[in-house]
Amino acid sequence: MNIRYNRVCPAAISGILDNRIRRWFQKPREILEPYVKEGMTVLDLGCGPGFFSTEIARMVGSSGLVIASDLQEEMLHKLRKKIQGTELEGRIVLHKCKEDVIGISEKVDLAIAFYMLHEVPNPEKTLNELASIVKGNGFLFIAEPYLHVSPKSFNKTIKIALNNGFTIVERPKVFLSRAVVLKKD
Ligand SMILES: C[S@@+](CC[C@H](N)C(=O)[O-])C[C@H]1O[C@@H](n2cnc3c(N)ncnc32)[C@H](O)[C@@H]1O
Repeated sequence: MNIRYNRVCPAAISGILDNRIRRWFQKPREILEPYVKEGMTVLDLGCGPGFFSTEIARMVGSSGLVIASDLQEEMLHKLRKKIQGTELEGRIVLHKCKEDVIGISEKVDLAIAFYMLHEVPNPEKTLNELASIVKGNGFLFIAEPYLHVSPKSFNKTIKIALNNGFTIVERPKVFLSRAVVLKKD
């Protein structure tokens, strides 16, 4: 079964992406702790309402930066409202990307693409651009939903990443997910 159905998760149901129940079985800090260090610049591609972006911003501290990028202005708006007036506001740059162009000029130490690549129409193009955004020796964390993305489809995604200059570092265990961490050579 080919699961690349390219349906973008609507902002109207963004509540399912950031709530106490999800936080109970997927803890952003625990998942990303081995890869996020203070002072890093991190791209959260397909950030949605910022379930990961806000925690990453705490982890990188005041000397770090998070670029939270999404296709949907409504998702960015939800994240903007969440961080407004908090110390995280200065650490998170909101960026609206296009369907097949990320379009940022910064280079990042780590990019995460959590539950988003299966929604992208041309993953080859996106992974190719990610390879130009992630610094040499930087990392790319990809996670896809276990139920929506078959092992075959996930392996295909990994293969595209490998063809774009990434190597596999590890396959972390993330509840209800297929995940891989890659390093940019
Ligand atoms: C299922 S949500 C996951 C959100 C977040 N990463 C999380 O795990 O909570 C997928 C997000 O990817 C975004 N998205 C889909 N296609 C995209 C694309 N081509 N470029 C950037 N973002 C995209 C959607 O707008 C949506 O916010």
